[in-house]
Amino acid sequence: MSTTYYVTTPIYYPNSTPHIGSVYTTICADVLVRFLRLDGKDVQFTTGTDEHGQKIAEAATAQGKTPQEFVDSVVTQFEKILPLYTIQADDFIRTTEPRHKRAVEQLWRTLCENGFIYLGEYSGWYAVRDEAYYAESELIDGKAPTGSPVEWMTEPSYFFKLSAFQDKLLAFYEAHPDFIAPQSRRNEVISFVKSGLKDLSVSRTSFSWGIPVPDDPRHVIYVWLDALTNYLTSVGYPDIDGTHFQRFWPPSLHIVGKDILRFHAVYWPAFLMAAGIPLPQHIFAHGWWTNRGEKISKSVGNVVDPYVLAEHYGVDAIRHYLLREIPFGNDGDFSEEGLITRTNSHLANELGNLAQRTLSLIAKNSDQKIPPASQIGTQEDQALLRQAHDMLEAIRPLLERAPAFHKYIEVVWRVITAANQYIDTQAPWALRKTDVDRMNQVLYTTLECLRYVGILLQPLLPESAGHLLDQIGCPIDQRTFACLTPAHALKPGTSLPPPQPIFPRIDRETPV
Ligand code: MSP
Repeated sequence: MSTTYYVTTPIYYPNSTPHIGSVYTTICADVLVRFLRLDGKDVQFTTGTDEHGQKIAEAATAQGKTPQEFVDSVVTQFEKILPLYTIQADDFIRTTEPRHKRAVEQLWRTLCENGFIYLGEYSGWYAVRDEAYYAESELIDGKAPTGSPVEWMTEPSYFFKLSAFQDKLLAFYEAHPDFIAPQSRRNEVISFVKSGLKDLSVSRTSFSWGIPVPDDPRHVIYVWLDALTNYLTSVGYPDIDGTHFQRFWPPSLHIVGKDILRFHAVYWPAFLMAAGIPLPQHIFAHGWWTNRGEKISKSVGNVVDPYVLAEHYGVDAIRHYLLREIPFGNDGDFSEEGLITRTNSHLANELGNLAQRTLSLIAKNSDQKIPPASQIGTQEDQALLRQAHDMLEAIRPLLERAPAFHKYIEVVWRVITAANQYIDTQAPWALRKTDVDRMNQVLYTTLECLRYVGILLQPLLPESAGHLLDQIGCPIDQRTFACLTPAHALKPGTSLPPPQPIFPRIDRETPV
């Protein structure tokens, strides 16, 4: 595995406040990035907002604001959601920033210099909501395939010679079979490209809220060409000799929703090929969260508010639910009932209970100190600790290219289940009267198992895993994956804080 990583989320349209669907991508990226960092990797994690285009201009007009005033007022909601959901992004990019304008202008000039942009005229079915033109054949019942309304538009336009890249893209997909994941999405992209690529309209004259085309300011640059360039801006482009660009380009993984895969897997690599810039390594398209079967979206108006949810259920419970409920890549139906059930059964009953009973037995019987234990232990002790130790090797490949977050969680939960069974069969509460040494050994083994579990759950549950590690006496500077070895085992005799519940049950059967 390489040691530097560049992970991105899409940049969000700030045409209204964030919803659970948009927070999902960022949480997934954060879990991956935290995992890589704890594993000793050098990571750049970029997210941000996509602030130009007709959709934003229209939303601003509706509120009687200039587009800039409007985005400035909404973007804070996107920035604030990051610390609330304990997301550790390195860069939050706004496409209205001067550094981004510089990058887009440079990319445009390079595409022109390389002969891939020409002036023509464009007519077609345009969906404002999607910022995209659709071919007649793509319309369903007179609407875009996304369900958005379309209108017929004609305008002078600059075109990008996308048609010149059909064979090059197909050859690239062939040579890099894991460029697009999941596989079913890869197949869709390949058949789309095989069906023929037309040149792409990359400028607009019908509105002005965008980056003007260099040397022809009647046009603004198409919002997708503008937006995709954020991935370059964030690492310092056009300064391609700069340390940041050299260190992190090309991106290791673009995480995107399935609705915007075509832009990332077809247009974006074509732009980069045309500019002579190396292509990203992987693109993963995840599914949609629905609300009663319908896509959650600002335009449809059935959003689930991430601020309200966090207040009621806690951020870790939501992170856990979103990543565990559905395999990454599938669609899922969001429900608060599901969130409550998953939190109570997995976090409270399994993980919380394991920690709680171990820590309260230690508080009662071992003077609230890490109990003494021999290095060797019985076969049962060794088996549990071996299983705990082997988790890291099992999880790494699951997150490498096409992250399988649900499988990562399953690996850790197998150990939690095994540890609960171990306590049940070893019954340390009974040993208290018959064999104190053995009781100590059992409690120590469980605590040590919790150390592995706590360290490995930090990416998913940053707050509660930290809290768990505090409770079991794991020093703050010994929580990276390099410490997942017997050499970093907990030190017997260390005083522990009074036990506190890690995951109390949610005492509510129905949503708030
Ligand atoms: N601005 C573009 C992306 C430009 S990237 C260079 C955009 N913005 S968006 O705000 O509409 O969507 C951003 C991301 O949120 C997309 O990946 C989209 O799939 C994701 N989600 C929006 N609603 C979602 C759900 N209901 N469920 C899961 N993800 C969804 O597209």
